[in-house]
Amino acid sequence: MCGIVGYIGNKQALPILVQGLRDLEYRGYDSAGISILEDGKLQRVRAVGKIDNLVSKLKDQNYPGTLGISHTRWATHGGVTEENAHPHFALDGKIAIVHNGIIENYRELKKKLEKKVKFISQTDSEVLAHLIGSHYKGSLADAVRQALAEVRGTYGLLAVHTDHPDQIIAARLGSPLVIGVAEGEYFIASDVTPMLAYTKQVTFLDDGEVAEISRENVRISNLKDELITKGITQIDWDQAKAQKGGYEHFMLKEIMEQPTVFEDAIRGRINMEEGTAVLGGLNISEDQMRELKRIMIISGGTAYYAGLVGKYAFERLAQIPCEVDFSSEFRYRDPICDKKTLVYAVSQSGETADTIMAVREAKRKGAHVRGIINVVGSTIAREIGAGSYIHAGPEMAVASTKAYTNMVALLLLNAIQLGRLKHVTQATGKRMLESLLQIPAKMNEILKQADEIKAIAKKYAQYKNFFFLGRGVNYPVALEGSLKLKEISYIHSEGYAGGEMKHGPLALVSEEFPVVAILTRNQLYEKMKSNIQEARARGARTLIIATEGDIEAAEVADDIIFVPKTMELLEPLLNTIPLQLFAYYIAVELGRDVDRPRNLAKSVTVE
Ligand code: F6R
Repeated sequence: MCGIVGYIGNKQALPILVQGLRDLEYRGYDSAGISILEDGKLQRVRAVGKIDNLVSKLKDQNYPGTLGISHTRWATHGGVTEENAHPHFALDGKIAIVHNGIIENYRELKKKLEKKVKFISQTDSEVLAHLIGSHYKGSLADAVRQALAEVRGTYGLLAVHTDHPDQIIAARLGSPLVIGVAEGEYFIASDVTPMLAYTKQVTFLDDGEVAEISRENVRISNLKDELITKGITQIDWDQAKAQKGGYEHFMLKEIMEQPTVFEDAIRGRINMEEGTAVLGGLNISEDQMRELKRIMIISGGTAYYAGLVGKYAFERLAQIPCEVDFSSEFRYRDPICDKKTLVYAVSQSGETADTIMAVREAKRKGAHVRGIINVVGSTIAREIGAGSYIHAGPEMAVASTKAYTNMVALLLLNAIQLGRLKHVTQATGKRMLESLLQIPAKMNEILKQADEIKAIAKKYAQYKNFFFLGRGVNYPVALEGSLKLKEISYIHSEGYAGGEMKHGPLALVSEEFPVVAILTRNQLYEKMKSNIQEARARGARTLIIATEGDIEAAEVADDIIFVPKTMELLEPLLNTIPLQLFAYYIAVELGRDVDRPRNLAKSVTVE
């Protein structure tokens, strides 16, 4: 949510910034704006709504300037208006800033500043602009440092000044900024996507750092102006990976990518001979792992459902009690965790504010913390400094799909590794790993049925309510299937454990309330079948996910999708995929904005 793109170099900034904003669209936004330094004057154009609206406003402008900043805003303080969109000006348009994050003490600061300046917007960001203006005495970097010293809250910030045509100031606290390095030019953005076309060499700004970026170099310091030396990281994502690759939507592309990125997730992490997983980047010795008394998984949304799958694996394989908690709850509930607890923070973006805070809480209590993260160099990844990247590549659709499967893959590998240090035999470990290696081919079997699933989805698109049911390891699959449907189609749906229906929800079931159920051949097959029968007896139409060749499942199905057989603990890796496709095709049928559903953002950087 909210995206920043800045450019300083020898090329025309405008097209780079506009394309950069488009590359960040997946983060979610509701207005956009741009400011270019042009003949000693800052030009500014802002528009509410899609970037296309900004582009049409820019139609008659062709600012040739080679320095500029831009922003996509996801409203937090003040409504969705042009005045509230960034960039914000100070000192009568001499200073322009773009800002992500929240200035918590903006009211007090505004009160002080109001005596001297007139505020045009309702935003906390404009307060920051004027605060910088109030400190300006010839050095923009000093003014930024002094202003930030007064600020309580979070920021990813770019600032420019008409008297400094060769400089962009960037600063970060809690909201990511990356600097892309090329010959005589620098790109600054909320993540690497906008710079991939130009460079793969980047420097990640860390919290508390201020960068003074000119066309020749970058000087990084802290708020006290003490110099900081930083390295350059080589990014291996290519631009094609960050684009739609011929699919109608990012979401469909990302669903289809699952077999490939799953291979990326497990590659090099399997020791078949020992029947165990090889996971680098650990912050805990094998002895400490053997002594663990508790595992906790903290995350939100889809990552939380991946975590729930992890719980089954950790308890069954490692026989360590495992709790899964929403990060937003964990951080406030005084969780019981100590040095015998291993906490997994699971996050696609690595920037989810709740999970960042939960990680800090877990660390404070002395727990071992490991990340299961997609975005390389993201805040959580760097704060933890231990764990595994899931290697799902850039996930552009707001609704998470391939990141989910790869999170489950990494949790399973971690569970196998812990299990092997306890009672899991080499043979069992080996069997699980062999099954994992077969998963990509089995995923492909499901993906080949996309057209059939599309036809089924059409039949269900007009219903207003859905139940998703599963038991055991497929209970989280039901929850995830339900979330996918509601977030992209806006249809009401509820995920339930099959056995819970009779304790209340069954009252809702009718012909108007279809049931999607996961009925694969595992130890709970008969129990699940009974639960489906209970719903059918009350008139519900049923869509069943069943194991290939299971004719018996058809007895309780109005519609059926078959998935290949795998080991029970691995079933979520397959069973989730038809539900992703089902949700996708319903949303398409209803004409929804699949990749950018209303009210949602990709990276949830506010509490
Ligand atoms: C749903 C979805 C969200 C995220 C959640 C956590 O499709 O994408 O529920 O899973 O916001 O985000 P990350 O994984 O970035 O921490």
